[in-house]
Amino acid sequence: MKQELLKKIEDKTFVVGVLGLGYVGLPLNLCFAEKGFRSIGFDIDKSKVDALNASTSYIKHIPSGRIKAARDSGFFAATVDFSKMNECDAILIAVPTPLNKNREPDMEYVVSSCVAVAKHIRRGQLVVLESTTYPGTTDELMVPILEKGGLKVDKDFYVGFSPEREDPNNRDYRTETIPKVVGATSADGLEVANKMYQQIVVRTVPVSSTRVAEATKLMENIFRSVNIALVNELKVAFMKMGINVWEVIEAAKTKPFGFMPFYPGPGLGGHCIPIDPFYLTWKAREYGVTTRFIELAGEINTAMPSFVVQRAMDALNEVGKPLKGSNVLVLGLAYKANVDDDRESPSYELMRELEEKGAVVEYNDPFVPVIRMTREHPQYAGKKSVPVSKNHDLILISTAHDDYKSIDFASMKVPVVDSRNLVKNQFPLLFKA
Ligand SMILES: NC(=O)c1ccc[n+]([C@@H]2O[C@H](COP(=O)([O-])OP(=O)(O)OC[C@H]3O[C@@H](n4cnc5c(N)ncnc54)[C@H](O)[C@@H]3O)[C@@H](O)[C@H]2O)c1
Repeated sequence: MKQELLKKIEDKTFVVGVLGLGYVGLPLNLCFAEKGFRSIGFDIDKSKVDALNASTSYIKHIPSGRIKAARDSGFFAATVDFSKMNECDAILIAVPTPLNKNREPDMEYVVSSCVAVAKHIRRGQLVVLESTTYPGTTDELMVPILEKGGLKVDKDFYVGFSPEREDPNNRDYRTETIPKVVGATSADGLEVANKMYQQIVVRTVPVSSTRVAEATKLMENIFRSVNIALVNELKVAFMKMGINVWEVIEAAKTKPFGFMPFYPGPGLGGHCIPIDPFYLTWKAREYGVTTRFIELAGEINTAMPSFVVQRAMDALNEVGKPLKGSNVLVLGLAYKANVDDDRESPSYELMRELEEKGAVVEYNDPFVPVIRMTREHPQYAGKKSVPVSKNHDLILISTAHDDYKSIDFASMKVPVVDSRNLVKNQFPLLFKA
């Protein structure tokens, strides 16, 4: 089985299927197609599949032209027909791994996609999970589902885990230039998975087990979460002392060793940093371990929206207005600059807290013209972005989109609360938060 798969990779007859065509799965699929491997994308969302087959992108930073080129090459097609998995030599799973209401891992998507793979799995395939998850998922959850049909792992098919390090809209790194960690349940499986990823990325990093690969991803994101919490704490302390934390960071980062800059903000956002650390916390409990650093970082980071709302109240106070009844414009709904991804965005928490205190809240985001229905914020579904104007009582900058850099906030004569250090010129109604 191993030799056959390695040969197929070498002569490029190896077919790659990707399950879940989102921010992670779509670029992954395109990378294989661009390297001349037949690539099939699977998703349960027919609208995404139809859009891709019509060469239309639904992700801002992935141009439709890139999809068109992949479609025209004949190497890429998307489908909702999971029976086509049979045509694939590898199936890579990149589905969501959110938290449930109790902030515990919600493995629903991973389980349902493994069930779908199990229905179609055949001898001689490689299945790799790419979704971020707790150590042990591949061994304990995925393999038993895949083996239900009677085939045996590492005898009939291989299983691996290779975490995604996608950073949407990162101008310096893209899928191909980010080294990829690869783990598998056997040495043979690892050899095949490693060789497959070598076709699309600059460097692979094979590790001794799927657990090490799973833990690596969590360590990377926990590192970010903890450091962001630290800088958020420093922001609050320095602000009280009249010190601009962003200026401190700029100065500190001139140290050529032993320091790495992290930036404060209105709270954590996105699909990874607010969520992933709790996958480890949950699993560690099974081993009687309390992850205090992670919990503390979570506590500090989740307190940030309230801190920013307090600054908004202070800012309105300066012009003799209460928050209750004031019209507040939240500037930026995406969780980070220049992307259209609003998942877990702290802007939602800001909107919720402002409304709870009686403010009338509107938002502006050129990349999120209308808020789609989500299970986290159903109350905002259908709400539309409004233009930035001086008719608001307060403007609260939550996302530092480049488009906002040219706005002349000073001339608007309304208080501006800036939680991203977007506004560089000082004016009396500017409040950093
Ligand atoms: N977005 C990022 O920047 C990023 C970075 C690194 C890692 N990750 C991780 O990658 C994983 C995927 O994240 P994403 O941002 O790509 O999610 P996403 O929501 O953008 O995409 C997931 C896709 O999976 C599809 N899907 C859901 N259930 C399915 C099923 N049973 N079968 C087939 N398709 C199904 C959805 O329709 C959707 O298109 C998560 O574990 C996430 O933590 C994300």
